[in-house]
Amino acid sequence: MVAQSGLADGREGARLRPLGRLCGGALVAIVLVATAAPSGAAAGERTQRFALEIAVLSGRSGRLLSGGLTPAQRGRVQAKIRSALGVLPLLARDCLEEQRRADERPLLARLQRLAADYSHGRMHALAKGLEGLSRRYPVDMQGLLPLPGSSRAARAGRTLYDQRCMGCHAYPDARSPAPAPNLFVMAHAFSDAQLVVSLLTGIRGTRSTTLVNPLNRQDIADLAAYLKHKGALGP
Ligand code: HEC
Repeated sequence: MVAQSGLADGREGARLRPLGRLCGGALVAIVLVATAAPSGAAAGERTQRFALEIAVLSGRSGRLLSGGLTPAQRGRVQAKIRSALGVLPLLARDCLEEQRRADERPLLARLQRLAADYSHGRMHALAKGLEGLSRRYPVDMQGLLPLPGSSRAARAGRTLYDQRCMGCHAYPDARSPAPAPNLFVMAHAFSDAQLVVSLLTGIRGTRSTTLVNPLNRQDIADLAAYLKHKGALGP
């Protein structure tokens, strides 16, 4: 698999900086996959699932390090990091199986080290380890980045948001232990790559859509474009 950097753009780097240096480093590691998976479309799916989980985890560890979270937000991010570290070995096995690699020990050992780093509070080591892993397992950004700049995309994104997201995200349940975040605030704080990754993983389907993200790549790109550039659309 040939990977090439999709975020070489200097503006992206400039936007990352306020989020914290480590966070930025982790994001630069989210790169474009230039070629299709070698053995058919389905072959890449489990590897992509693993790559996405690493990218999300990388973003979360960056957020913990960059500070600025309320104690409640911090607790939620920590809980998500713990649970992600718990499922990573399963996703890794799936990914290796898909790539037909016989020896799973090196990767599993690497994940164990990450879990140990986290449980011993070595957050910088965790962030660095995740950065390395996401270079090795890049998220496929084809069709997602760069975000579409057209007003068609932003309008399509607005329709999607109004019909399918707003009900929960504009009126979060304040008593919930995990309230729905304001997606515009999130879009503002995140880089384009980070936003797309969180839309790819943050949206779950329902029982009828088998808990798979119900949106296709075009929908995700449109939504991200709308969330980022809402102001440009006017009232
Ligand atoms: C039925 C209510 C509901 C709907 C509809 C909904 N969400 Fe959410 N969403 C939530 C809640 C609750 C959370 C917080 C979950 C948590 O923190 O564990 C969340 C979290 C998220 C996250 C952050 C996940 C993370 O990893 O922190 C993203 C991104 C997201 N939603 C995107 C969307 C988008 C885009 C739509 C519309 C296409 C949507 N959601 C529709 C309730 C909803």
